[in-house]
Amino acid sequence: MNRKKNVVIVGFGGMGNWHSHELENSDVCTLLGIYDIKQERIDYAKSRNIYTYSSFEEVLADKRIDLILISTENDMHKPLAIEAMNRGHNVFTEKPVTLSSADLAEMIETAKRNKVLFTTHQNRRWDEDFLAVKQIIEEGTIGPVFNIESRVHGSRGIPGDWRGMKKHGGGMMLDWGVHLLDQIVNVLYPQKKIKSVYCTMDHVTNYEVDDGFRMVMMFEDGIRAYVEVGTSNFIELPRWYVQGQDGTAKSSWNISKGKIVCCTNWEAKDAVPIRTAAGLTKTMAPRTDDTIKTVPYPEIKSDVHDFYRNLVATLDGKATQLVTHEQLMRVMKLMEAACESDRLGQVVAFDA
Ligand SMILES: NC(=O)c1ccc[n+]([C@@H]2O[C@H](COP(=O)([O-])OP(=O)(O)OC[C@H]3O[C@@H](n4cnc5c(N)ncnc54)[C@H](O)[C@@H]3O)[C@@H](O)[C@H]2O)c1
Repeated sequence: MNRKKNVVIVGFGGMGNWHSHELENSDVCTLLGIYDIKQERIDYAKSRNIYTYSSFEEVLADKRIDLILISTENDMHKPLAIEAMNRGHNVFTEKPVTLSSADLAEMIETAKRNKVLFTTHQNRRWDEDFLAVKQIIEEGTIGPVFNIESRVHGSRGIPGDWRGMKKHGGGMMLDWGVHLLDQIVNVLYPQKKIKSVYCTMDHVTNYEVDDGFRMVMMFEDGIRAYVEVGTSNFIELPRWYVQGQDGTAKSSWNISKGKIVCCTNWEAKDAVPIRTAAGLTKTMAPRTDDTIKTVPYPEIKSDVHDFYRNLVATLDGKATQLVTHEQLMRVMKLMEAACESDRLGQVVAFDA
């Protein structure tokens, strides 16, 4: 059996810590040590008996390392990753990979020139609510899908740390947008071209960066994806709302409460009208039970550690990396198009 790969975490904050626990239980990797510029994070690592490097140079010089994870604030991913790759290290960053497509192009070029692995932790690909939607679409449970709505909502505004600062790559587009876009464009529809993007951003609690946004992407065959991130939502909307020609699927993060309703008889259009104080409607009245059926929501179990297993299999030449450079670039360019659309107040063309 191959030995476990040695990983070092650079940036041992909230997410670095999450990775350290993942690595404690890993079947393919082991945590060699961490490096952080904050003494309190070094002290915390020591309290857990984790080796702490005294400088980034000490990390770079350690020949035992198989993989370096960069889990700092977003603006530091690029300089640290490039330095590490230029010293021959395989690198994966936390998301977002970096702040612009020009920066990403430099990172990809550096990886190729040094012949090292370079990718990003797009862990939300393993979210069970997302994988359930993927299954519903792939199995045609609700017929051909024409509208997908993906939302995440909080009610605490943007966090008061670096996430609220432009220079550190703050903002909800780079924080949550990058996950939600990756799910739809790189996993659900990797082969479909996006033709246009429209986005408006919120600044309810922060003027420097977006603290939420609403974005519509039109795919070449008319499929529409709507992505919404909010941090001032005191009443939640569904995490997913997906419409197909034969039915509708809806779920929260908790898929055990997901619901699918399909039409069993399109011809039967009779309905009990809804009466309001000002009038009545049959068009908007719910269908009668004899013309619809409820279909069980998919049960999905995923293991996010498959991300690490893929990294290791890629290093061993037994697999190709799941989160590719092209996919990272597609989402980076989409986020740039969204910002441009918000700035111009109009739909912008996109052709990728
Ligand atoms: N994939 C996910 O689900 C997920 C979730 C949360 C955060 N993240 C990402 O993880 C990254 C870190 O986020 P966080 O919440 O842990 O932030 P954090 O502020 O808790 O931690 C960042 C750490 O990086 C350290 N740091 C900064 N510059 C450094 C340098 N030059 N060298 C070494 N250490 C340095 C800081 O001292 C801090 O301890 C971000 O890119 C964020 O977007 C991803």
